[in-house]
Amino acid sequence: ELIQSIGAAETAARLEELRVAALGKSGSISGLLKGLGAMTPDERREQGPRINGLRDRVSAALSTRKAELEAAELEARLASERVDLTLPAPPRHKGGLHPTMQAMDELIEIFAEMGFSVAEGPDIEDDWHNFTALNFPPRHPAREMHDTFFLKAAEGEERKVLRTHTSPVQVRVMQSQQPPIRIVAPGRTYRCDSDATHTPMFHQIEGLVIDRGIHMGHLKWTVAQAVARFFEVEDVETRFRPHHFPFTEPSAEMDVRCDRSGGEIRIGQGDDWLEILGCGMVHPKVLANCGIDPVEYQGFAFGMGVDRLAMLKYGMPDLRDMFAGDVRWLSHYAFSP
Ligand code: PHE
Repeated sequence: ELIQSIGAAETAARLEELRVAALGKSGSISGLLKGLGAMTPDERREQGPRINGLRDRVSAALSTRKAELEAAELEARLASERVDLTLPAPPRHKGGLHPTMQAMDELIEIFAEMGFSVAEGPDIEDDWHNFTALNFPPRHPAREMHDTFFLKAAEGEERKVLRTHTSPVQVRVMQSQQPPIRIVAPGRTYRCDSDATHTPMFHQIEGLVIDRGIHMGHLKWTVAQAVARFFEVEDVETRFRPHHFPFTEPSAEMDVRCDRSGGEIRIGQGDDWLEILGCGMVHPKVLANCGIDPVEYQGFAFGMGVDRLAMLKYGMPDLRDMFAGDVRWLSHYAFSP
């Protein structure tokens, strides 16, 4: 009877009930086992194996049924909690490359193929590297508060600046290596300025070539080639307008031919001109300040605004959007890696 009820138990609780009723302290089989003590040796010899045998069969039936119930429960759980591996995976958000960094990488690659290597300098500069070595006169307007971010100076120390251009990297390179020099210096630059075409932090890429017999023809060819390749046009007509930088002589700004008649600016055709970069022949005083003999060596340098070049290439209307951190803007313009 017991074995039958155990086999028919549908739940673990029912099984436990049956176990307690048979094998518990005051269970029926426990009672029979206790009764053995009061029997005569002959009775015990006969009843002992029968009662013990019964207990063993009931125990075995209990554990068999317990295993069956557990297996059934596991089956049910596996069936109800099944994972459908054929469902499409949820979307994963991947990062992208900011358009400025994309433009920077393209420019570095273009110059690398022309034989330039990459040089870097600190964002926090001293006055000497940012201005003095570059031949800025003592009271040049660019040193004034409205252009330059000055850092608070520690007691007795000279105040540092956030570099206003990448040109101080020219100085660091010339101080640490002798010609021939052929480097580009990409990096962040800072000026106290903000409107649709200016942000307090922006990016420049600087170029510097120093060797014997370098002249403006080398400068013109190099920058025109690089700009044409950046804008993916066959050739680009350039125009050099006289300009002034303290660290180059002569100095120029370079414009490229473009077409502004449609909504977007198209480079290399049309009747308009677009200013792209500042450049010139490295001033003899700058060479001398950096320990290079200006009689033996000449060089050219140029600097361009990378964010502006990215805006032109990818057709963005406002420079400030570049650094606003709006995810909608970023996911529209970012380059997938
Ligand atoms: N440093 C200049 C600027 O920020 C650009 C420049 C670089 C001009 C190198 C001449 C030579 O405007």
